[in-house]
Amino acid sequence: MSPTVFTSGPLAGTAFQRNGEGLLCCDGQSLTEIATTFGTPVYVYSERTLIDAYQQFSGAAQNENALICYALKANSNLAIIRLLATEGAGFDIVSLGELQRVLAAGGQADRIVFSGVGKTRLEIMAALQAGIKCLNVESEAELHLISEVAVTLQKTAPVSLRVNPDIDAQTHPYISTGLKDNKFGIPMDQAEAVYQRARSLPGISVIGIDCHIGSQITSLSPFLDAIDRVLGLCDRLHAAGIQIHHLDLGGGLGICYDQEAPPSPESLLNAVFDKLHKWAEIRGRDMPEILFEFGRAIVGNAGVLVTRVDLLKPGTHKNFAIIDAAMNDLMRPALYEAWHGIEPLAKQNAPEQVWDLVGPVCESGDWIARERRLGLVQGDLLAILSAGAYGMSMSSNYNSRPRAAEVLVDRQGQAHLIRRREAFSDLIGTEKIPDYLRK
Ligand code: LLP
Repeated sequence: MSPTVFTSGPLAGTAFQRNGEGLLCCDGQSLTEIATTFGTPVYVYSERTLIDAYQQFSGAAQNENALICYALKANSNLAIIRLLATEGAGFDIVSLGELQRVLAAGGQADRIVFSGVGKTRLEIMAALQAGIKCLNVESEAELHLISEVAVTLQKTAPVSLRVNPDIDAQTHPYISTGLKDNKFGIPMDQAEAVYQRARSLPGISVIGIDCHIGSQITSLSPFLDAIDRVLGLCDRLHAAGIQIHHLDLGGGLGICYDQEAPPSPESLLNAVFDKLHKWAEIRGRDMPEILFEFGRAIVGNAGVLVTRVDLLKPGTHKNFAIIDAAMNDLMRPALYEAWHGIEPLAKQNAPEQVWDLVGPVCESGDWIARERRLGLVQGDLLAILSAGAYGMSMSSNYNSRPRAAEVLVDRQGQAHLIRRREAFSDLIGTEKIPDYLRK
């Protein structure tokens, strides 16, 4: 048998392909072997696919004054951060924990931007002490808090205001952020006034404009429409004497989970830079530095979640396959009814039937894939595709389930454990029975 190369769908162009025996591999390493060595459920990431995806962005931006930041919330494993830091990536963080992760993985503070609607005093302090590149401010109240903290520390806080351009990203309502109904950003019609306020506050240095309209966006137009509005604001600020040194255009580029055909990183960035260069040329001004904050498009299809079929429960109405990965391991189906592809690790011999793949958690929402035609037998190993982004990072211990292990496969096909499976001691490590209950 000759190896199968996926030419469409989420595995096209990735390191996850079938070998001559029909086994799903990552850069030649059989996922079955990984499952046997490390157990299931296990997240498996491909270094090559991750770096390829990052380089599609950095390559398209190489002749520009630009910084491609990686949005850590998509997957914050230290090894993933380290790989991207080595590539020269910047980082988009939303918490103290994410700041500490970047620093622990050897990332540079001056390449970090800090997003999020509710930064605490402690987080602002840590960010200023570390010397990050920029804080993306989402409200006037936050601006005052940052000013206060900066004055106390005798530092100057570099800030961008995150503006809400009121653009429909045409994505799932839970992951759309640029509409005026969303909690994010400062409404466009108030932005100039808040910039004026920011300029007058002590400890604040206004350096940029920030905008992020949503996630899993599969067409160019929402990005370009948002940029038009950001450039309009940039012009108005220029007229008011406020200099903007960088534009942070956020992240949000979608990936293929099923049949989606989002623009490639290169075509998105080319379209963006084209627009920006024309704008700068007409105005006779230098281009500001351009920042991006991509998460999913860098890591989404670089990871799969490998699971075992524990029990089959065929029925008259529905057939359920109970797998050992559950909503606590991959929350996306339960939370957004998200679709993830399923690939058996080995060729299947059982007759095909329509199955719902469900986890063992006590919730009807605990399903991973519904109505899939598969030839399952108990013990089969399956890969849940496109699980690199917002998989492990959104996992929990619900039902006292230890979190899964994570494995990174390097370019030579060598598998490295980058997070061990949790043990019972990890589950109860922070808990305590008070003395009075011990009597
Ligand atoms: N920048 C900001 C300010 C963000 O809020 C986000 C994502 C990103 C960048 C990165 O977006 P990306 O390039 O990954 O689309 N849990 C959801 C996705 C939530 C996205 C939240 N913000 C999911 O599983 O689909």
